[in-house]
Amino acid sequence: MLAAVATFALEGVRPQEVTVEVDERRGLPTFTLVGLPDRAIRESRERVRAALLNSGLDFPQKRLTVNLAPAHVRKAGPSFDLAIAVGVLAASGQVPADELAECALAGELSLSGELRPVRGALNAALGARRAGYRRLLVPEANAPEAALVEGIDVSAIPSLTRLADLLHGRWQPEPTEPAVRDPDEPLPEGPDLADVRGQADAKRAIEIAAAGGHNLLMVGPPGAGKTMIARRLPGILPPPSFEEALEITQVHSAAGIGDGRLAAMRPFRAPHHTISAQGLVGGGTRPLAGEITLAHRGVLFLDELPEFARAAVDALRQPLEEGRVEITRGQRTLEFPANAIVVAACNRCPCARPPDRCACTALELARYQRRLSGPLVDRIDLVCQVEAVPAVELVGRTEASRVTSDVVRARVMAARKRQLVRLAGSGVLCNGDMDGRLTRSQVPLDDALTDRLLAGRGRLPLSGRGHDRVLRVARTIADLNSRDRLLESDLDEALSYRLDTWDRVAA
Ligand SMILES: Nc1ncnc2c1ncn2[C@@H]1O[C@H](COP(=O)(O)OP(=O)(O)O)[C@@H](O)[C@H]1O
Ligand SMILES: [Mg+2]
Repeated sequence: MLAAVATFALEGVRPQEVTVEVDERRGLPTFTLVGLPDRAIRESRERVRAALLNSGLDFPQKRLTVNLAPAHVRKAGPSFDLAIAVGVLAASGQVPADELAECALAGELSLSGELRPVRGALNAALGARRAGYRRLLVPEANAPEAALVEGIDVSAIPSLTRLADLLHGRWQPEPTEPAVRDPDEPLPEGPDLADVRGQADAKRAIEIAAAGGHNLLMVGPPGAGKTMIARRLPGILPPPSFEEALEITQVHSAAGIGDGRLAAMRPFRAPHHTISAQGLVGGGTRPLAGEITLAHRGVLFLDELPEFARAAVDALRQPLEEGRVEITRGQRTLEFPANAIVVAACNRCPCARPPDRCACTALELARYQRRLSGPLVDRIDLVCQVEAVPAVELVGRTEASRVTSDVVRARVMAARKRQLVRLAGSGVLCNGDMDGRLTRSQVPLDDALTDRLLAGRGRLPLSGRGHDRVLRVARTIADLNSRDRLLESDLDEALSYRLDTWDRVAA
């Protein structure tokens, strides 16, 4: 008999429907898997056999052929076990096939027949709903995550025995509660901006970065608090919307780093500077998400930016420009979402001492700063200098104003709302994502403002891209002040966050 069971493979983070066809016929007992299976799937043959027998079900002594179609989709991981086992049951007449036609399944089997959780349950649920399945059968540990998808009935299955019972109509699982957070449950607590002493300029810069979605570079000596400030960026960004949280959860579920619940916070990823280009943007023969994708809708922090391999940093070009990563493997192109705010940090110079005690030669300085050019730095709108806070201030008990992350987040959200309204229909959501053309149409300058900008240019040369960066940042500063029109002071402040200002200081 022939049976067909639907399941889903992951291509990047996208669910791709796979049909498991099982043919059972008389002949020498064999169990053949075809359809480009990787080693995990060949191993799944052994798990399926043991799981069926240990569940008191029959493993047919027949010629069994299993085909995973379509053949061109690369299939990886153990999540096909369940569909293969159920295909064998249906082909050998041990469960009714009609009930299966409206179901999709995903799950790994243990040798005893228990179901083990798999990656990408949320992605599979989205795929199953899109493909029109009425029901998704998944391991218990995956069910709350899959149930985040409305419009498809998600059933939590503990074991193969239970699944056979369900298909025979002898057992019904409890309805699955989706893994959303209770609205009354407080958000997971992140580090607070109020912990940072002094550093008014850097706090202002990170607020602007959050408000406009701008990439930020902090330049300063070790111990100044750069890492500390960067870690506080997710806490001042607006909490993710439901749609954004679904995107974050899909990425993390596919990568196997989710906690099985809907993401309540934006991610913060801080890869070490020894990371490869592949680790940063994704790839490999069986492509995996890179750090920029794991940071999707959140923050990617690159500490000690000049220490990163040039190739790794340059590989960020496409994600920074397009908010996604494309990886081509043979005939197929995988796509990973990759829209994150990049925060980078570095020392002012290789010796990292204060300017008056700097021991670097001009050549060393030039070499260090040359490493700070290229596609990433081109996309950094804000550069801010951070000096170490004197020890007395760090231990001092009182401080005039300690603004909390809650207060800053409220200002950021108000500024974001203004951008959403103004940018409606433009394809971008915040000032930091505007390209050059959109920037110039969105931030018109009158004569007085043009003069001001030219005066700023007079002091320092400003490239075309530098010009756009200043306009974008000035626009966000005005948004933070709830103003439609730019003031000269907005331009002045924006002009102060430029890399060439730092060049001059360093030279
Ligand atoms: N402005 C600051 N306010 C409070 N603590 C600070 C500040 N700057 C540095 N520190 C302390 O010093 C530690 C090191 O700071 P860090 O953020 O790692 O500096 P950097 O990344 O600039 O080298 C922090 O964990 C914190 O305890
Ligand atoms: Mg640091």
